[in-house]
Amino acid sequence: MRIGLLNGGGDCPGLNAVTHGVVGAATRLGWEVIGFRDGYEGLLPPGDYKILNPEKARGIIRQGGTILGTTNHGHFSSKHGSGDVAKVPAELMRQAKSTLKNLGIEALICVGGDGTLTTALQFAEEGVPVIGVPKTIDNDLKATAMTFGFDSATQVVVDALDRLNTTASSHKRAMVVEVMGRHAGWIALYGGLGGGANVILIPEIPYDIRKIAQVIRDREADGLHSSLIVVAEGAAPAGGTQTVEAAVAGGEYRLGGVGERVAADLERLTGKETRTCTLGHLQRGGSPTSFDRMLGTRFGVHAVKLIERGEFGRMVSYQRYHVGSVLIAEAVSQLNLVDPEGEVVETARCVGISFGD
Ligand code: F6P
Repeated sequence: MRIGLLNGGGDCPGLNAVTHGVVGAATRLGWEVIGFRDGYEGLLPPGDYKILNPEKARGIIRQGGTILGTTNHGHFSSKHGSGDVAKVPAELMRQAKSTLKNLGIEALICVGGDGTLTTALQFAEEGVPVIGVPKTIDNDLKATAMTFGFDSATQVVVDALDRLNTTASSHKRAMVVEVMGRHAGWIALYGGLGGGANVILIPEIPYDIRKIAQVIRDREADGLHSSLIVVAEGAAPAGGTQTVEAAVAGGEYRLGGVGERVAADLERLTGKETRTCTLGHLQRGGSPTSFDRMLGTRFGVHAVKLIERGEFGRMVSYQRYHVGSVLIAEAVSQLNLVDPEGEVVETARCVGISFGD
């Protein structure tokens, strides 16, 4: 038996752990794994791929990025703008299916976020035996309690806050740290809580800049002359809009710049020197944490088990400490957002963190 594997969308720590799991489990069954390069692009005839034998997978569990390459702007993109679904053109679908047939591939594992999984669903609807594996640092997929990559990204935020704290307190400055996460505030919330932020701004809780300024003034009055403010890239003021860095092809837009906006407003309102640090792609790079290596490997092994059982059209999912699966159709297009009334936000408030509301 021959199975295919591809990684789609933005890269993410733990992708290679999935590959490690897939190759390990498939090899035990005597199957061969074909890794397609650059996501679905590798399916374009005659196929751009490499054979993933155990030797190729050796040691990759500790590597960041993806040994297969990936793209989020390919021919097979099925999500545009603010989440509109587009059908993969019939001719492209036909070409991809003929590549799979010519290579004798009997099942395809697609590892990616909502866009990649939406395309995977279209392949499944076209009769391709597909398994989905959820991936995103944003942790914004509803049908899984956790995605690999999120823990690694959060750790970067915590490390950055630890470092920024020492320089901010030396200079008695306010430091605004912009983090990723798209429309979900998970990275800001977990990173800010773990890294000892004083203010966390997330898309799910619109902020009032005057409230944040008051937090800084209150801290000054208490003799606390430095402050750490974590801002999710998707955060927006009450009644205002998200800050967009740039429009990209296909109606997509890139979030970014809210950190600078918040810092400028705070400096104006408080008179306190306020600096910005945008963590950007540092959050996606580097080695995965132990949790992400473990989760990625478990996801990869489980994907092979689903193929073995013939349970196609399903996405691997992590629920209540167990790895299981759900229908891809039920998993896509459902955002997992922070509950503003939830236990984690409540915990943060209890330890004195402001959400600027
Ligand atoms: O979805 C992961 C993510 O890193 C988001 O947090 C961020 O908004 C986006 O991807 C950045 O994408 P790109 O690398 O294409 O700029």
